[in-house]
Amino acid sequence: MEKIIVEGGNKLKGEVNISLAKNSVLPIIVASILSPNDVVIKNAPMLEDVIVLNDLLLEMDCSIETINNRDLKINTSNLKETSMNSDLIRKMRASFLIMGPMLSRFGKCKISMPGGCNIGSRPIDLHLKGFKLLGADIEIGHGFVEAKAKKLKGNRIYLDFPSVGATENILMASVLAEGTTIIENAAEEPEIWDLANFLNSMGAKIHGAGVGKITIEGVDSLKGIEYKPIYDRVEAGTFMVAAAITKSKITINGAIEDHLRPTIEKLKECGVKFESLGEDTILVDGTGEKSPVDIKTLPYPGFPTDMQAQMMALLSICKGSSIITETVFENRFMHVAELVRMGANIKIDGRTAIIEGVDSLTGCDVKATDLRAGAAMILAGLVAHGRTEISDLYHIDRGYVDIEEKFRGLGANIYRVDK
Ligand code: EPZ
Repeated sequence: MEKIIVEGGNKLKGEVNISLAKNSVLPIIVASILSPNDVVIKNAPMLEDVIVLNDLLLEMDCSIETINNRDLKINTSNLKETSMNSDLIRKMRASFLIMGPMLSRFGKCKISMPGGCNIGSRPIDLHLKGFKLLGADIEIGHGFVEAKAKKLKGNRIYLDFPSVGATENILMASVLAEGTTIIENAAEEPEIWDLANFLNSMGAKIHGAGVGKITIEGVDSLKGIEYKPIYDRVEAGTFMVAAAITKSKITINGAIEDHLRPTIEKLKECGVKFESLGEDTILVDGTGEKSPVDIKTLPYPGFPTDMQAQMMALLSICKGSSIITETVFENRFMHVAELVRMGANIKIDGRTAIIEGVDSLTGCDVKATDLRAGAAMILAGLVAHGRTEISDLYHIDRGYVDIEEKFRGLGANIYRVDK
């Protein structure tokens, strides 16, 4: 079984290059279904989730080739409308995003229900509400969901919750629909803007992505393009916390300040200093004393749920009491038990965790319980006394490319073993 080993105590220095955003690249790969022409995604991060999604498209007779080891060239002209098999969908929930483009292109799609995951039940009711309002008939049974529509027609869709996935799925279903679609209370994450920007580059007519109301005027077809997605704000935020927890000063290349505002402001409140070095480069000075802070995760532009576990690792050694409230997912505190094994003092009360800062953590064997919790274990290991051994690495590999190499490049004593 593979493990990441972290020998705690090293300061970090130098600079780290952030990869492009997982949560942009995944929907953008799926959106390539909307055009029969070549789409090239520049510098695509070869994450586990990207590989799984590529395998799914290859299974559906799309062609995908990697050019100079980093650009993905996709052509879906031979795509067969088919029902997607369950294990690949279960393995990577984001593949449910295929439904919108497939419904748009073929007028029907049958996909196995994506199911839940560690952090929550992950319902799809808002996705299906959108498809129904666009004129699709939806049938659910035997673990499958099937959508059918002769031609999707634009409509006004209000999302009870600004779901990222539902916004993306409905966006992709409406770009080739007849007439105009308006999505109200849409998700505002930067990755939504990025997907809309990608689709508009292909000839779509989308206005308002990135703010709560998106208007889409249906068009007849989309052309192929070359596109470079945005940097990964969660990976950048993870390294900002690394500088804070190890009391180090590092430079992050590929940090878009506007996308990181909630994370930067919260870290500033905690005592971290930032200096913009221009062109998406930020100097992070985490050398000063840290104070406890309270965090409530919210849809963007609130504090991101994907940074919650990483901040908890930092706050577990900040003297005083901090409170973290997780409002987005119903079960995203599984890293608490792992941090407590390392000596943290954290109590959970429903969706709230109360963290009493301790002087230090001690290394031990811990598990990555979800993608971002795995990153939090690395952060805790950087400052723990002794050795931390992290298992269940597939969670980490889903969302971070070469994470040990990136930390080693900053001076951390971290390596992967197979034992
Ligand atoms: C996306 O997941 C991200 N994944 C998640 O990142 C991220 O945590 C999440 O957005 C929130 O920002 C990708 O982009 C691939 P949601 P998604 O739909 O789309 C409820 C990571 O670590 N909901 O906004 O699944 C749902 O129950 C991953 O990179 C409904 O009620 O998130 C949840 O409580 C983890 N009905 C809340 O919305 C629906 O139909 C947020 O879900 C859909 C969602």
